[in-house]
Amino acid sequence: MRAVIVAGVRTPFARAGTVFKDLSAIDLGEMAVRELMDRSGVPGEAVDQLVFGTVVHDPHAPNIAREVGLATLPKSVPATTVSRACATANQAIADAANLIEVGHAEVVVAGGAESLSHIPILVSDRLSETLVQAAKAKSVGDRVKTIARVRPKDLLPKQPQIAEPTTGETMGESAERMAKENGIGRAEQDAWALRSHRKAAEGTEDGRLTAEIARVYVPPRFEQVVERDNGIRTDTSAEKLAGLKPVFDRRYGTVTAGNASPLTDGASAVLLMSEDRARSDGLPILGRIRSYAVAALDPGDQLLQGPVLAAPVALDRAGVTMADIGLMEMHEAFAAQVLSNLQWLDSDRIARERLGRSAKVGHPDVERINVMGGSIALGHPFGATGGRITMTLLNEMARRDVELGLLTVCAAGGLGFAMVLERI
Ligand SMILES: CC(C)(COP(=O)(O)OP(=O)(O)OC[C@H]1O[C@@H](n2cnc3c(N)ncnc32)[C@H](O)[C@@H]1OP(=O)(O)O)[C@@H](O)C(=O)NCCC(=O)NCCS
Repeated sequence: MRAVIVAGVRTPFARAGTVFKDLSAIDLGEMAVRELMDRSGVPGEAVDQLVFGTVVHDPHAPNIAREVGLATLPKSVPATTVSRACATANQAIADAANLIEVGHAEVVVAGGAESLSHIPILVSDRLSETLVQAAKAKSVGDRVKTIARVRPKDLLPKQPQIAEPTTGETMGESAERMAKENGIGRAEQDAWALRSHRKAAEGTEDGRLTAEIARVYVPPRFEQVVERDNGIRTDTSAEKLAGLKPVFDRRYGTVTAGNASPLTDGASAVLLMSEDRARSDGLPILGRIRSYAVAALDPGDQLLQGPVLAAPVALDRAGVTMADIGLMEMHEAFAAQVLSNLQWLDSDRIARERLGRSAKVGHPDVERINVMGGSIALGHPFGATGGRITMTLLNEMARRDVELGLLTVCAAGGLGFAMVLERI
């Protein structure tokens, strides 16, 4: 049974701490799923499963999928939460396709949400242990004695970091290392970032991006209306970007706030169906999932090169080569990562040494990559980005009458995701 995508939508993506700062990932996820059901016209009763993800989990609601489903779909719809770092929504979509292809479901909602305005702050181990012991104390006196053992330094929260647990390296430091090892300079990175903003601004102004976005009336007062992504800097320039200080290696670095994706809040949702069901229900088939692949490399290696490993496998599984790909969407964690991925894809040496292939995988002309910008300008709510990329690719494939599109996403842990989408 072939899985097809019939609809998809996302909230606007907003820089963390701005318009969505009082909303949780669950709130954002609900908005995306509700709008998806409204736009598609498919009744909630028709949905067999919900697969939804997030990366930074809320300890009070670890199964975000169930919470989102309870608020948006009939309570009888089973829900499962998935997490594959920045490729989380891609994994949700792949899982949904798998459910359909093995015949376990005909109609599945997939997607993801992230609120980086709300991240759980952890306390020190000593404070945590003391609080647990105090809760078990038999008398008020014992409880006070236990709590009195806490020292001021125990009260300091653990600083949240986007770092690899195995190496301790932050994503930004990994991007710096990739830039250095691959000889990618500051000017090249800034040029990619500028391109991302310019193309995102064009896609917003001409309505292609806003067509994929659900208007949000921000609760609780519902007075503020958000209709577009707020990270796109229409006023940025090569000079302004060149003036920003490196963040992760302040002395010799090249990665800045300008050529990195910003911390972002947002959600996305995609409706998948078996092809037969979509046809019998008369729904528009936007595209079919022709293949996908995941790959991984050692996080101590070039952390964000996973897409280079995953893309050729997805292409092989689809029975095509890069030359058949008419449009490509790449997640932009950092300009240094995008340019490193493109460099490796275009290298015969990397193909031989890393991929066990005789010749390079290649990539489409850059004019056919991220034609409406990417995560640097649009933002990157970790759990939601995969839904954005999937829908942007499919919608633009229709506009340009492209048959095959490729998307890639790099992710923490050295993971890479690639998917080939086909218009039928
Ligand atoms: C890089 C990072 C640390 C920057 O955070 P930040 O300092 O809060 O970023 P800001 O948006 O405040 O930008 C810092 C400054 O650069 C300026 N700036 C950022 N982008 C700019 C651009 N394109 N043009 C001009 N100025 C820009 C901002 O205006 C701001 O200036 P100000 O200090 O005068 O207000 C943060 O975005 C980050 O951690 N990103 C990476 C996230 C990550 O690792 N994701 C995982 C990848 S998958």
